[in-house]
Amino acid sequence: MKSLTLLHASQLVTLSGPTRPRAGKELSELGIIRDGGMLVRDGKIDSVGPSDEIEKKSRGAEIVDAGGRVVLPGFVDAHTHLVFAGNRLDDFERRARGESYEQIAKDGGGIWSTVEKTRAATEDELFETAKKRVDWVLKCGTTTIEAKSGYGLTLDDELKILRVIRRLNHETPLEIVPTFLGAHAAPRDMTPNEYVELVIDEMLPQIARAKLAEFCDVFCEHGYFDVEQSRRILTAARKLGLRLRIHADQLSNSGAAKLAAELKAATADHLEKTDEQGIAAMKSAGVQPVLLPGSVYALGSSDYPRAREMIEAGLAVVLATDFNPGSSPTASMPMILSLACTQMKMSPPEAVTAATINAAHSLIALVVATRSGCLNEASLPTFRSLIAKITGSWRTGLEFRKCIRFTSKANASLGRVAALRRPDAAARRPTSPNDILLRAVSAATVATMKVEVEKQPGFVSKLQIELPPEEVSKEWDAIANSFARFAKIPGYRPGKAPRAVIDKRFRKEIQDELTKKLVSKSYQQAVEQEQLRVASLTNIEDIQFSEDKSMRFRATVVTAPEFELPDYKNIPVELPDTKVSDAEVEEALERLREQTADFVDVPERGLQMGDFAVLDFEGSVDSKPISEIAPQASKNLQGGKKFWLHLASENFLPKFCEQVIGQKSDETRLVIVQLPDDFPVKELAGKKADYAVTVREIKEKVLPPVDDALAGKLAPGKTLGDLREMIEHDIEHAKKHDVERAKESQIVKYLHEQIQFELPPALLQNETRRALAELVQRNRERGVTDEMLKEKEKELIDGAAGLAANRLKTNFILHRIAEREKVQVTKDDVDLRIRQEAARYDISPDKMRKELQHKDALDDVAEQILLGKTLDFLKANVSVQPAEESTVKEEKA
Ligand code: NIG
Ligand code: FE
Repeated sequence: MKSLTLLHASQLVTLSGPTRPRAGKELSELGIIRDGGMLVRDGKIDSVGPSDEIEKKSRGAEIVDAGGRVVLPGFVDAHTHLVFAGNRLDDFERRARGESYEQIAKDGGGIWSTVEKTRAATEDELFETAKKRVDWVLKCGTTTIEAKSGYGLTLDDELKILRVIRRLNHETPLEIVPTFLGAHAAPRDMTPNEYVELVIDEMLPQIARAKLAEFCDVFCEHGYFDVEQSRRILTAARKLGLRLRIHADQLSNSGAAKLAAELKAATADHLEKTDEQGIAAMKSAGVQPVLLPGSVYALGSSDYPRAREMIEAGLAVVLATDFNPGSSPTASMPMILSLACTQMKMSPPEAVTAATINAAHSLIALVVATRSGCLNEASLPTFRSLIAKITGSWRTGLEFRKCIRFTSKANASLGRVAALRRPDAAARRPTSPNDILLRAVSAATVATMKVEVEKQPGFVSKLQIELPPEEVSKEWDAIANSFARFAKIPGYRPGKAPRAVIDKRFRKEIQDELTKKLVSKSYQQAVEQEQLRVASLTNIEDIQFSEDKSMRFRATVVTAPEFELPDYKNIPVELPDTKVSDAEVEEALERLREQTADFVDVPERGLQMGDFAVLDFEGSVDSKPISEIAPQASKNLQGGKKFWLHLASENFLPKFCEQVIGQKSDETRLVIVQLPDDFPVKELAGKKADYAVTVREIKEKVLPPVDDALAGKLAPGKTLGDLREMIEHDIEHAKKHDVERAKESQIVKYLHEQIQFELPPALLQNETRRALAELVQRNRERGVTDEMLKEKEKELIDGAAGLAANRLKTNFILHRIAEREKVQVTKDDVDLRIRQEAARYDISPDKMRKELQHKDALDDVAEQILLGKTLDFLKANVSVQPAEESTVKEEKA
């Protein structure tokens, strides 16, 4: 295990305290450890405490001397508009001349001018400029931000911005929580109401499906979206599982803070014009106010939000930059802290709490859903990027040092480092030597969900998941309250029964509801937290509630095998030629000609090879009709009337055709057939069969001449030239299809050769069963009897096992590539597939969807699409080798 120890921070700010957003006096309690140290093991913070104690535990660790600097968690900036194109220097100048934000917006500037530039920018351009901004953000000591869309205002442009945000989140060390702010302004060519419809009907569903946002925000303001429009959008968003933030009461008191309370939004942001009623509403609903003094400052206003009143009222205040080109062109949290202290009269410790742990809580969904989501010591967002840096450059520890330095520098620029350095009685709390920094700064729900993973053989993992009482209680209360409202309990007026009575009376029902609500959600979280690649969930069992309202259950899963991916771009493939030769066209034409042949009677002569004879015949063995000896045998063996036989050696029964040569119409002959010993009809094997054969008709096949008449017959209205072209086109199409197939099979073959791993036995068994069922079905369709299948049982099972192993291996590999390449299945993809399938079966798409849903097969559809898209990606990236005639032929076979 690699460890790193940080020693001698003059003050180590732990923010230890309750596991919830801090309010009132708690805002001032920073949990400072003087001469503090921190032990980091394998990139994760193990413990914090006084330097000398930490040093004792640090044998073998690399030591970093913080040299008397202040060390505190990275800032969490809970409100930014990070992704946009261009700048708004014009607006800045105009404001300096005295124009207002609203005037400028009406008259060529404002949000709309940024929208036009952002629409014109490509996704890559947006990414590149935003990446530079990420660097500023990091340099200011911020490690996590929230970032909103909102400068696109069309579905495609909003998606574009959100994808840029996602890419920044993946490709930079900054942790980013995405918010969809489609309702930032109505586009010029639509009324606000029309645009609201678009946001609700099209944008939100697609964005939610693509999981491109965790929050939805609305600019609720006079001239933008009124309270009713905002309510509609936010309610729709909430139904889709997004959490809510609102731009509230920035320029006028429109009642948006109250709307935030009504909708239980996570935050209401700005609040410059919010009054006592708004503050009281937020308090009662637990809405966190996000204060943005940067935008007040940059707009040249002195109307700062009433931070002191909010703190006094018990709100868990958050500070953020509102970084955007128009109203707050700064990404600096230190600057915001400074404004908070100088303009809003918050104390420095209050500002630090508001800019770290409280901000983290306002984004807490992130912690739950985050990709790296390990919920143990390293999970708090405020610390995650810091930790990422430690891990990222473990060998030198350099980044970690830098991180400390700029953190302390950042505080210096606050101009109030002294406040952090000066002994602060309230902030000096006893800290146990084992206090884990994360827990200290900790994120309630998440950090305390306990997951134990027991790995068992055969890729099976058992997860023991325990949810903390706080999380369960929250839901419990909500459910119990809804019971309380409607319950009729003898002795109490409706809705008036005390909670204890409700809890007791409806215990079972409440627990069932809780199970529905919490189990699958926390199972998902646990999987993310433990970073398990689950291939299938086998079982959830043993759900228990204990007295303290914690909840536990067990999940059994099969995990995917681990393996390294080889370089899968430029897989070498040899492809068959798609050129169509004249000979191929003639061959195909000849086949068509055969199909239009005439059969002409030639009654006067005897049968010749090549003729078509129409026969009556009857077979017997030792004078007994075959129909009696082998009633099961095919009718043609027994005999028949008007039986058409094309005379050619080897056709029909051994030496049969040869014996009728020369036979004339109405003549009867005895044809003797020696049946081989291995003849499939047992009763007849090795027997001599006698056939009495009478010729009824003799026909010659006459091919039509190759001319326009033939073409017209085959393809009405076409000439021979047209027909040749059509044929050529068809052959070419088929060849292109072959090329695709050849590509696919060579790609899969290559990957199979390059990658070796064991398959989870349980999955292999299931897949084999499925493949066997398919094989049996296919054989039955071909007319193979169950008896014959029984005989071939072993062969079939082996075949199915091979097929299953092959498929599973392919799927695992493609999945990993999909993961690496971030291949996604969108709602559009699924819709399209459903429409195609519906057309194939000639039913309505709606019916198709319902049927799939009914069969629980929608996930399978998505899975097929994902694998298909991944294969398409690989196909688009192959390296085509010059083909050698022979190998290509082989591949075709
Ligand atoms: O939060 N108020 C709305 N949105 C931004 C301003 C955006 C802009 O002016 O471009 C804000 O201040
Ligand atoms: Fe904003």
